Amino acid sequence: MTKMRVVHRCGECGAGHPKWSGRCAGCGAWNSLIEDVEGEPSAPPAWTGAAPEVQNITQIDPLEGTPRPTGVTEVDRVLSGGLVPGSVTVLGGEPGIGKSTLLLQILAATTGRTLYISAEESAKQVRLRADRLGALSEHISLLAETSLPRIRAAAAALSPDLMVVDSIQAITDPEIGAGPGSVSQVRGCAQQLVADAKAVGRTTIIVGHVTKEGTLAGPRVLEHLVDTVLSFEGDRHHALRLLRAVKHRFGTTNELGLFEMEGHGLAAVPDASQFFLADRQAGVPGSVVGAVLEGHRPLLVEVQALVTLSSMTSPRRSAQGLDQGRLALLLAVLDQRAGLLFAPCDVYTSVVGGIRLGEPGGDLAVCIAAASALTGRSVPGRVVVCGEVGLAGEVRQVGQIPRRLAEAARLGFTTAIVPRSAAVPVEGLEVIGVSTVLEALQALALVDAPSAETRTVYARRVN
Ligand code: TYD
Ligand code: MG
Repeated sequence: MTKMRVVHRCGECGAGHPKWSGRCAGCGAWNSLIEDVEGEPSAPPAWTGAAPEVQNITQIDPLEGTPRPTGVTEVDRVLSGGLVPGSVTVLGGEPGIGKSTLLLQILAATTGRTLYISAEESAKQVRLRADRLGALSEHISLLAETSLPRIRAAAAALSPDLMVVDSIQAITDPEIGAGPGSVSQVRGCAQQLVADAKAVGRTTIIVGHVTKEGTLAGPRVLEHLVDTVLSFEGDRHHALRLLRAVKHRFGTTNELGLFEMEGHGLAAVPDASQFFLADRQAGVPGSVVGAVLEGHRPLLVEVQALVTLSSMTSPRRSAQGLDQGRLALLLAVLDQRAGLLFAPCDVYTSVVGGIRLGEPGGDLAVCIAAASALTGRSVPGRVVVCGEVGLAGEVRQVGQIPRRLAEAARLGFTTAIVPRSAAVPVEGLEVIGVSTVLEALQALALVDAPSAETRTVYARRVN
């Protein structure tokens, strides 16, 4: 029997501390330490058997890692094709976001034998939900259980192709002397599930809850153990849900899956641009549509800005869906290169629909929205813009402009403002190439005078 001791372990970074404190000294997270009991580590025994056989890389069967489609197209898109047999995936997200719903839909859509371990809800509740989702299927077996040894025994007996464990925080291994949801339970249980998955080639999906405060032992602890980490995000008060791969050993991590939570479960949002633009009020100052990329997916999103005279000594800069530092930089560029004075104003910017501008192609849209809000002149509704804005005020090339423009043309946009070097003709679209952000503002009649003059006009207006 190993000697047990109490340790306070951080749910975010896994660092252990002898005493409890409000803040983890390892990663700086607040309120993340959880009391835990663990044994003394013993020295690993030296290997005495034969040396393991190594393989030539060319002799390894590449087909072993081929993904199998789940049947839920948005999930397959994020997973670069589907789930790789024998792989272990963590599906992380806040409670109530729709993880269990998504998994039931995946189980119903996949072929082969599947096992759903429900550690949080009774079998009856899961059945009722499956009914509601239209996911009642012969090939789904169900076990409502929280004890890990019993779960492993059931899995060994059924030998499913795909197993879902919902959730890792709710299952316990009695061998581990710590409470459910503690870091050692979560890690210990996950380790055994991963080992089983690898030993028999059982594809496994593990649900992990994360809270905004990070007080629960969440997927952070699991990230190193598994092949893929998916994050299911969204605002619980809105229907939109985003599925992203945070880590993926078998493909790219920059694809995005979009769903809408409906009465009958999650429905794919194949036409994302239309979804994001549905409630748009065109012709209002401070609004413009940018053509951005999410993964390989061209998306048209509305960027909004609101500019008001500030009553504070250091005016507010609010950036929702974009980086605060990037906003400050773009406002400085507008000030210096286009003569628009934002210094005395509060500036609020927002990317509509819960999307984050992760690539520089949205810069021009942010500049135009802010300029339009400041000048009070609106951008015509059928205009789309894209381009990176540099410190010299130049508008630079970004990737895949033809695909972004094709998306704009498809949705009935008539004019596009793009970097001059990328101005290619597109059917149904008037493409205007601009070299500088000032040229873009002039093309849209947001400013009409050369920079110095404009600067004094707006400086006078706000003073
Ligand atoms: P759930 O999948 O239980 O979330 P999680 O497993 O991430 O905790 O889904 C929770 C919410 O989804 C619940 O509050 C109700 C809503 N919901 C719908 O709107 N429509 C549906 O068809 C289902 C099953 C759930
Ligand atoms: Mg659930």
